[in-house]
Amino acid sequence: MILYFSSTGNCKYTAEKIAESTRDWAMSLSEACQNGDYGLLPEQGEPLGLVLPTYFGVLPSIAADFLERAEIRIDSSNYVYTVDTYGFHYGNVADEVAKILRKKTGREQDADFLLQSVDNWVPNFDLTDQDYVRTALERADGLLDGIVKDISARKHVRVKGEWPAPMLLMMKKAYKRASRTKNFTVSDKCAGCGMCAAQCPLEAIAIKDGHPVWDKPECTLCLGCLHICPENAIAYTKATIGHGQYYNPKTTR
Ligand SMILES: Cc1cc2nc3c(=O)[nH]c(=O)nc-3n(C[C@H](O)[C@H](O)[C@H](O)COP(=O)(O)O)c2cc1C
Ligand code: SF4
Ligand code: SF4
Repeated sequence: MILYFSSTGNCKYTAEKIAESTRDWAMSLSEACQNGDYGLLPEQGEPLGLVLPTYFGVLPSIAADFLERAEIRIDSSNYVYTVDTYGFHYGNVADEVAKILRKKTGREQDADFLLQSVDNWVPNFDLTDQDYVRTALERADGLLDGIVKDISARKHVRVKGEWPAPMLLMMKKAYKRASRTKNFTVSDKCAGCGMCAAQCPLEAIAIKDGHPVWDKPECTLCLGCLHICPENAIAYTKATIGHGQYYNPKTTR
């Protein structure tokens, strides 16, 4: 069983590739939330993989909430691993998962794998830069091949968090501040198709009078709405304007 959260396909592709190579199956955390399915209940001896992106050095809030809420049933027969996809700083995602697992199940994961890929944080990165995107995807492919081999061999390897506690606290505060939906705007290019609202894993967007309205004060900041818009009409602060959109070309939405 492989649980993944993905807004622009890096984690989805990673989970699909691992599932295909290890004859496992992948399930979307967004779909599980939408279906109210909060169970992580692998069979005896079945591996449990968690494929998650780094947001501000920590777990996406939707993933942290899911893991806190889920019924997680694992014992020593289950090989438990994380794969953390990120752009430039992997932060402390593995530590955060370990903390939740320890609290809820009395044990931590057996292995953590880091997968550097395209950074979809479009306020900081210009994703119209095709050289950057191509190079990052090529590197990710090589890394993923190694990770698949290690998972197949049930390798035990743990990753220590990148940031010390004070820095981590700062990052968490910055993430919380940045998650305010008032930072989103929509331009008059919007054609009212509703794809942004359909994409949102938290149902934080409503279409009113043919345009999206963010009707929750905060969201998980996956930027899936921005990256999916066929008109590229959504901005998250002025910093995203001109920085393009991204979806991992090796998988489908
Ligand atoms: C809100 C947000 C914050 C992010 N913060 C970080 C970060 O702190 N470090 C990093 O290396 N990448 C960061 N990223 C980039 C993603 O972790 C990375 O692109 C990931 O592979 C995206 O996975 P996905 O395509 O499955 O959604 C951030 C992305 C978002 C949307
Ligand atoms: S996806 Fe884009 S075009 Fe469609 S409703 Fe949302 S903002 Fe408008
Ligand atoms: S509003 Fe946009 S950024 Fe926020 S959770 Fe929904 S899709 Fe993701």
